[in-house]
Amino acid sequence: MYRLLRTLFFLFPAERAHHLGFSLLRFAMAFPIVGHLLRAFYRVNEPYLQVNAFGLRFSNPVGLAAGFDKDAIGYNALGGLGFGAVEVGTLTAHPQTGNPQPRMFRLPQDRALINRMGFNNSGSKDAIPRLMTKRNVILGVNIGKSKITPKEDAAKDYATSTRRVGPYADYLVVNVSSPNTPGLRDLQAVDELEAIITAVQNASAEVCEIPPPLLVKIAPDLNDEDIDAIADLALKLKLAGIIATNTTISRTGLKTYKSEIEGIGAGGLSGAPLKERALKVLRRLHQRVGTQMVIIAAGGIETAEDAWTRICAGATLVQVYTGFVYGGPALPKQIAKGLASRLKAEGLDSIEQVIGRDA
Ligand SMILES: Cc1cc2nc3c(=O)[nH]c(=O)nc-3n(C[C@H](O)[C@H](O)[C@H](O)COP(=O)(O)O)c2cc1C
Repeated sequence: MYRLLRTLFFLFPAERAHHLGFSLLRFAMAFPIVGHLLRAFYRVNEPYLQVNAFGLRFSNPVGLAAGFDKDAIGYNALGGLGFGAVEVGTLTAHPQTGNPQPRMFRLPQDRALINRMGFNNSGSKDAIPRLMTKRNVILGVNIGKSKITPKEDAAKDYATSTRRVGPYADYLVVNVSSPNTPGLRDLQAVDELEAIITAVQNASAEVCEIPPPLLVKIAPDLNDEDIDAIADLALKLKLAGIIATNTTISRTGLKTYKSEIEGIGAGGLSGAPLKERALKVLRRLHQRVGTQMVIIAAGGIETAEDAWTRICAGATLVQVYTGFVYGGPALPKQIAKGLASRLKAEGLDSIEQVIGRDA
């Protein structure tokens, strides 16, 4: 069914197709009977897949990564597809239009996307009423630096968004890893990152009785020393976790013609070609932090096998984005079912028994 729909969607430019698909889902879910039927159809009901992480109980480990619902306009509809969590954002302190279009491109031969959206969003202030809505899914809120904010004011910018969204986030993510905001990834340097995280923690403590668990999202293009340094900092600052990874600026190993890739230009590559690198980063992180911290794996996860591999390598939770675009609305359920069968086949009764097993 989705194959047919996907052929149709893929006739449109990638960003248009995204808005069409997302609008259609929200529209369908808004009708009580249709919404009820869709929720019942996509529901993941696998008690063995429940995961406890940073004080939250996830119904299953498969979440939707940031960037799909940037403005937090449809997280409940997305939750209805069976995701264990939906991460909205990236939200910035100032509303911004992002880069000129076209800025999202499909590489179907590689089951990949390249995007240079540039944090297009209506701003963290505008999102508040939508974040206050009653929710049916664990809600992560991902925040980033506004483009107009100079690097030296980055910590203040993140703190502003934290004060606005912190009280409504089940967990909060500091995104310093998008390749599409100039200089953003430089904030992964430990001195800069420490200042930002400390500012976010202080802001969070100011506005929340119980501050939400705080995570940092990192790029796959960091070298091993930088990964270790961030892991050490995360431990020192007692973060709840690390999300690994965002998109890559690398273009190696693609099947798509070089001329086409060059024609697309700058941006972050996601999907299948990111799989190997994201797994390496996860392994490195897990080696460093062990069980002291939650790692959420993202990057090229398309199947139950991929999710299983990441969990065995030390991830407590996984996230999908590009795999969802290519795989369709049934993907969370397919992954969950595959994980549950694997557990059964191995005679295990909880996915938590598998975390870090192969590390
Ligand atoms: C079109 C697009 C937009 C994205 N926007 C964001 C974003 O705003 N914030 C963020 O932290 N990650 C963003 N990401 C990165 C994803 O959350 C994810 O980390 C990355 O795509 C790797 O996962 P995947 O291979 O499953 O897509 C975006 C990815 C895509 C494809």
